[in-house]
Amino acid sequence: MKKIIYFLLILLFGAHHAAAQSIAQQRADRMKLGMNLSYLDNYSLGTKEKNYADFVKPADAAKREKMFAEIAKAGFSTVRIPINFGAWASLNQPYRWENGEGLKTADLFVKWAAANDLNAIVDLHHVEFDGKIQGAATTERIIWLWRQIATRYKNTNPERVFFELRNEPHDIKAEDWRAQAEAIIKTVRQIAPNHTLIVGFHDWNSRQALIDSKPFADANIIYTFHYYDPFIFTHQGATWSSEGLPELKNVPFPASKNTKIETPAIAKGKWVENQINSYQKDSSAEKMFADLKAAKNWAEKNKVPIFVGEFGSYGKYPTTEDRCRHAAVIYSAFGKLNIPGAWWEWDGGFNMFEKGTTKIAACMRKAVDSYNVRKAAK
Ligand code: BGC
Repeated sequence: MKKIIYFLLILLFGAHHAAAQSIAQQRADRMKLGMNLSYLDNYSLGTKEKNYADFVKPADAAKREKMFAEIAKAGFSTVRIPINFGAWASLNQPYRWENGEGLKTADLFVKWAAANDLNAIVDLHHVEFDGKIQGAATTERIIWLWRQIATRYKNTNPERVFFELRNEPHDIKAEDWRAQAEAIIKTVRQIAPNHTLIVGFHDWNSRQALIDSKPFADANIIYTFHYYDPFIFTHQGATWSSEGLPELKNVPFPASKNTKIETPAIAKGKWVENQINSYQKDSSAEKMFADLKAAKNWAEKNKVPIFVGEFGSYGKYPTTEDRCRHAAVIYSAFGKLNIPGAWWEWDGGFNMFEKGTTKIAACMRKAVDSYNVRKAAK
């Protein structure tokens, strides 16, 4: 009898435990290792006069089919697909699609993810064209886009396909982004009630913005932030970001006692110089772990799941070994803290490959695997 009661108790407790896990949390738990497959975000491949609407070349897209298989084979469970839907739509009301080819390619990407048993994140990327096209990111336009996107993908499997409302909102006040996000959530929910939404906060989906914010009322949301710290390591040589970064090189990871980083003349007195000054501390594994732990604490306090939608390093200047050490710090922290994350990116300048090949570098492989090692040890 005692045994039966014990058994019943376990059943009861087990069931209660499962019910307590939200749908969003269950789905987040299955995201694990993720990879960004860039390309459909790359509006600058198009013609400026055409507002970049022609940036997708169907022939380029077809060769990406095999990348989904490669990503799955490399042990990733989730693919984040950044898509510049905005480039295929008119800028002014009444809104309409200008380029059906682009949309068809997006459909193929979502299909190829499912065919390879990958969770897929349909991510509305660069809707503001980095400020290159004024007025592209109004709430009316984004709502129109989401009505279209949600309708297009509402019949996909909600267990496997997630909708990310807007990549890296910036130059928008916290409260304005919140209001815009609430309007998008309302729109998507009328069309796709069961799909999990991925939502980050203002200031480029920064970690601090997440910590400073409150979750939304909708329970089926996974919260996201991007983690490119320390930025002067991950973005040395980057031409599209802060002043002084294109000229910055020879930033090792981590810094040693003797590390002396030369401040490019153009960065003097700027944000990049501040980052150089605090690099000793910022590149320590302890500091990075504490950053990620603080995000996890936020998630636990609010009882919501989190997902790091982008992290990685630009391969132009640093050595592969330094990039691997940086990746290992993050992957092992993710494993310990049980945070899923998507590396930026599979085959662009942030790739994990041995230089000049399409094979994941051995030390990168080890770094990625440290995600599971730590978890198994727990
Ligand atoms: C941008 C990319 C950039 C990456 C790292 C992404 O969100 O879309 O263009 O390479 O961040 O900076």
